[in-house]
Amino acid sequence: MNENLSIFSPASPQAEAIRSLSVLVMFISVVIFLIVEGVLIWCVVRFRRARQQAVPSEPPQVYGSNPIEIAWTAAPGMVVFILALVTARTLWEVKVTPPLPRAGDNTLFVTVIGRQWWWQYRYEHWNGRELTVATANELHVPANRKVFLILKSADVIHSFWAPRLAGKTDLIPGQTNYMSFQADKPGLYLGQCAEYCGTQHAGMLIRVVVESPDEFESWLRSQAESPATVAAADAGRKLFLSLSCVNCHRVDGTSAKGDYAPDLTHLMSRATIASGTLENTPKNLRAWIANPQTLRPGCLMPAFNLSERELTLVVGYLQSLR
Ligand code: CUA
Repeated sequence: MNENLSIFSPASPQAEAIRSLSVLVMFISVVIFLIVEGVLIWCVVRFRRARQQAVPSEPPQVYGSNPIEIAWTAAPGMVVFILALVTARTLWEVKVTPPLPRAGDNTLFVTVIGRQWWWQYRYEHWNGRELTVATANELHVPANRKVFLILKSADVIHSFWAPRLAGKTDLIPGQTNYMSFQADKPGLYLGQCAEYCGTQHAGMLIRVVVESPDEFESWLRSQAESPATVAAADAGRKLFLSLSCVNCHRVDGTSAKGDYAPDLTHLMSRATIASGTLENTPKNLRAWIANPQTLRPGCLMPAFNLSERELTLVVGYLQSLR
């Protein structure tokens, strides 16, 4: 798996702007550090006691010197001014207020809702077309197209951070923030919630799947359809719909209409479950449903004490959701 989370390998113009600013700031800081430490070490060596006359004398006492005072006020002032300018320029490049969606704009708008402890994605507009697709934790976006994320929170403050694509931006209850990026090329880009949000904060992972625009279109089409009803999973489907799963989860085309937990409509199209912390395998699904609390203590899904037979049925049904 590609585990690269470094801001030093940017994969979008926005992340590149942040990287070059970081390098510039680092360079200026290193230069200042070398000058200050250099003068310090030079003074320590040059004025050490062994090199002074045998009779210790006081150095000449200097009270105030206009040129020196002006110099050491102006120089840091200049440095701060330059840093403020380049930072403002980068902010200008990175923080763009989203335009209104219109036909043919080749732009994707997705609402991201931070929740304890997973990411809810609602696809709003693509190329001016209104969408009804909802998914969780794995965000699909087209390469080389503008992407605007509309960031909201359902509970506490979270922070969306996929370092190779964009800077981090908080998701704050009662407030809407925006983020935009344009990924250079297809690939999997990992991220992480970057604001402590409770017990499972560290397991609130982000997976951004960047696809070619064609692949993205076909992903979008398949996500917009209701999953096919599989006869073999019928008993599992009935059981699932009779349980309280339906109060929190949604499966398009069924009576499960919950909006409180990940949308399961196309669960099998996702590579992971539990906010990117577990591979989406039948074994993990079963363990998760048997008792989510052992896998992610504190998460909001309780164990339903299903029998082994019921577990098999529910997992069978979930596996039909492609
Ligand atoms: Cu969500 Cu930390």
